[in-house]
Amino acid sequence: MNFNIQVATEEHLKYVPEILTTIENAAKDRGTGIAKRKPEYVEKKIKEGKAIIAMDGDNFVGFCYIECWGHGQFVANSGLIVKKEYRGHGLAKAIKKKAFELSRAMFPCAKIFGLTTGLAVMKINTSLGYVPVTFSELTDDPDFWKGCESCVNYDVLTRNNYTRCLCTGMLYDPSKHKWQTWRDKRKYTKLLTQLWEKRK
Ligand SMILES: CC(C)(COP(=O)(O)OP(=O)(O)OC[C@H]1O[C@@H](n2cnc3c(N)ncnc32)[C@H](O)[C@@H]1OP(=O)(O)O)[C@@H](O)C(=O)NCCC(=O)NCCS
Repeated sequence: MNFNIQVATEEHLKYVPEILTTIENAAKDRGTGIAKRKPEYVEKKIKEGKAIIAMDGDNFVGFCYIECWGHGQFVANSGLIVKKEYRGHGLAKAIKKKAFELSRAMFPCAKIFGLTTGLAVMKINTSLGYVPVTFSELTDDPDFWKGCESCVNYDVLTRNNYTRCLCTGMLYDPSKHKWQTWRDKRKYTKLLTQLWEKRK
């Protein structure tokens, strides 16, 4: 399959309702919770150049966006979704890789983290250099943890005073990848310049 995986632009705003419905339905299917986001929030992410969209022609097939927490000390790649009929072809891996590269370009000093119960995401994160960590290593930004309020397991999180839950925390710490950071610097500078030129 041949997909176009790119940084989302204003022309993709029309897909936001479909993206949010797909995310919500996938959570229902899995019986898990999600950090529910309003359309305006996702639209803002797209306008800020902080979202990745995968397209098959004119059809949206996958999505992911970047969030900053703890005054830019942490970045999370959230809302990862691939439409059911397009799964199992490496699409999520490609979307996450692009979101990871964009996060590294925009916030080179930030730690990148995620919370997941899914094996696919664990595999993808591991391939990008994330390692499993306890929640103590993640952001303590209350606004991030507020996102968990819409999860079916929120009671587990609060009962444990936000120290553990059913999700595994995974973290990419740039200070542990200094060689990679140095190597990628030129690549990321080029990516940012291209994005900047496009948005002018
Ligand atoms: C999770 C999801 C994004 C995966 O999308 P995908 O395009 O099928 O994933 P990929 O094809 O890129 O697979 C990535 C890796 O995960 C593995 N994988 C994919 N689906 C899997 C599954 N259901 N169980 C176990 N492993 C799985 C693949 O084998 C691959 O591993 P590899 O690199 O070792 O070969 C997709 O199933 C989805 O949208 N699910 C609903 C939303 C969701 O769970 N989002 C994540 C929230 S944290």
